[in-house]
Amino acid sequence: MSTRGRKPEPPQASPPASRPEATVSAVEMGARQREISVSEFFTKNRHLLGFDNPRKALLTCVKEAVDNALDACEEAGILPQVVVKLEVVSNGEPPPPPSQASRFRITVTDYGPGIVRQQIPRIFAKLLYGSKFHRLRMSRGQQGIGISAAGMYGQLTTGKPVQIISRTSARTPAHYFEVQIDTKKNEPRILEKKQIHWDSHRGTQVTIEVEGRYQKGRASVDEYIEQTIITNPHVKLTYITPEGETKEYPRTYHELPPSPREIKPHPYGIELGMLLKMLQDTKSHWLSGFLASDFSRVSPRLAEEICKAAGISPRKRPRDIHGQAAETLYKVIQSTKIMAPPTNCLSPIGEKAILSGLYQQIKGEFYTAVSRPPAVYRGNPFVIEAGLAYGQGLAEAAENQEEKKIPLAEGEDQQGNHELARVIRYANRVPLLYQQSACAIFKSVLDTTWRNYGVAQSKGALPAGPMVILVHMASVWVPFTSESKEAIADYDEIRKEITLALRECGRRLGTFLKRRERAQSEYRRRNIFELYIEEVVEACNRLKGGRLPTEKLKEQLQKIAMKRTGGEKTDELLGKKGGGPEGLPHSIIITPEGIEGEVSVPIAEAPTETAPPKGTPEDEEEAARPARRVQKPQRKTTARKAGGKPEKRETRKRR
Ligand SMILES: Nc1ncnc2c1ncn2[C@@H]1O[C@H](COP(=O)(O)OP(=O)(O)OP(=O)(O)O)[C@@H](O)[C@H]1O
Ligand SMILES: [Mg+2]
Repeated sequence: MSTRGRKPEPPQASPPASRPEATVSAVEMGARQREISVSEFFTKNRHLLGFDNPRKALLTCVKEAVDNALDACEEAGILPQVVVKLEVVSNGEPPPPPSQASRFRITVTDYGPGIVRQQIPRIFAKLLYGSKFHRLRMSRGQQGIGISAAGMYGQLTTGKPVQIISRTSARTPAHYFEVQIDTKKNEPRILEKKQIHWDSHRGTQVTIEVEGRYQKGRASVDEYIEQTIITNPHVKLTYITPEGETKEYPRTYHELPPSPREIKPHPYGIELGMLLKMLQDTKSHWLSGFLASDFSRVSPRLAEEICKAAGISPRKRPRDIHGQAAETLYKVIQSTKIMAPPTNCLSPIGEKAILSGLYQQIKGEFYTAVSRPPAVYRGNPFVIEAGLAYGQGLAEAAENQEEKKIPLAEGEDQQGNHELARVIRYANRVPLLYQQSACAIFKSVLDTTWRNYGVAQSKGALPAGPMVILVHMASVWVPFTSESKEAIADYDEIRKEITLALRECGRRLGTFLKRRERAQSEYRRRNIFELYIEEVVEACNRLKGGRLPTEKLKEQLQKIAMKRTGGEKTDELLGKKGGGPEGLPHSIIITPEGIEGEVSVPIAEAPTETAPPKGTPEDEEEAARPARRVQKPQRKTTARKAGGKPEKRETRKRR
């Protein structure tokens, strides 16, 4: 309805809701448009990077630096040796106790390949800069944000620059840098750079001062380190706590995992936009050459077939393909049968190593591990592995009754948590400590019907019982729900694989529990029989006028009792006698008599290691011999040790 030409109405007693005044014109609005640098964005949204509270921020900084150190060492074929040091910063006043402190200095030193001088400023003070984003190969880091974000958080909360020392060989000098991010430009600002004397022959040391909070327990730095050790037995780690205590985690496996290979994208995984970009960027001159060389699993013959099916000449220049032709090509690719991507780009932990890691770090009576065959989501190969530790450990069962006051992580249950199973999640060997309930792993654990395997479970809850469930996803690209890399996105293919791995672990646990229960009831029955054997023998003897060979009769009756109550099998199942966990592959059962099943015991081979202050000599020595683990069967010892628990178990805790 038009109001044009009407006279303005006289003012009324109570003015009507006034129309919003146009105060800003489009021109003015246009003038306000500005580019936002990625650093500015993440400064405002630092929670996206895992810096939402001081406790989590401290963990994130340590995690980013340690993950980088491990990645760098492994890529360079060096057995990782890392020192993590946390110190309280007091600024001249007497330092507060670590639990009350609000400022920390984090120093992470590795004796890895080092970083060339020219790259140092951008690696540590430019977001989205790294060597891992553009390649398809399993590694802990993938985004190129981690360490520069940690530095930026330090700069934001304490105003201090990141300090870096790096050296690439004994022949080159060590370089010292102090850098900060120019958040407006997302570019490094170098505050100091010089050559210095550094004891180590090679490696990198990064020091960041941050506002943080140190608290032990769930989702703490301590827990991150302990969980890292479970899936990285080839790492030697020294952790100097803010209290000044030095914790040594010796290497228990002396070879590097097989090096993952870099692969090309698989045609099934790409989206149309990605194909268009690849057509523009390729170095190939012909379409068939492009398909065969820029994708994995496309042979020259298959490339020709795809071109033919799409009705495009194999000799056509890739750059000239767009619009309808590109869409047809995309559809043909997706409907062509192409072999699944290769999996040598992955380096899963392996069942034996999971078993050994769980056994060393977590107390229990039954352990099992499952490695699923490789699968693919959106063209990215991945492998799911699961492990399970059940029981409280024998001597510790009583001790563990005592409730420990542990601060809870986000998403953890407050009530009766100690009774529920604990889920430990990993992505590319890195423990995931936050956002449990958003993670596909956690959801899969909830969705598994644990009651089928003899474990109690309330609806929609974790299974109850003294149980630790470990799940690891190894992939060339882990689909995290956010940049802070805390939870795995819920892809159907991933969910399915996790569920299958968990079910297998559950089935084995169910077999163990059922067998043990049956054996226990048979054993109780046997005890009752034995109670009456004496009486029966006495009575018979009286009837025979005291002429009966009582010992012989007793023995015979005992034999019958034994036979009727499962025979030696019962003893075996209850650990009263030897005998492996029959029908339970990749499992260990701990009994009062010792261990049943196969435990790889690299522990026994490990020399007593103390942290060399200069780090490198030991590594130089190790680097001289091939460190890379070839996929060969591990040396293993069938424990089944008669009597007594192995010494190592004394040090393990249920965490
Ligand atoms: N200690 C180190 N030794 C050698 N190179 C390193 C070290 N730390 C970082 N780098 C290099 O710096 C790059 C950037 O590290 P950054 O942590 O920012 O990203 P990223 O590890 O690639 O991915 P993400 O953001 O997922 O951690 C790495 O890709 C790696 O090449
Ligand atoms: Mg990183």
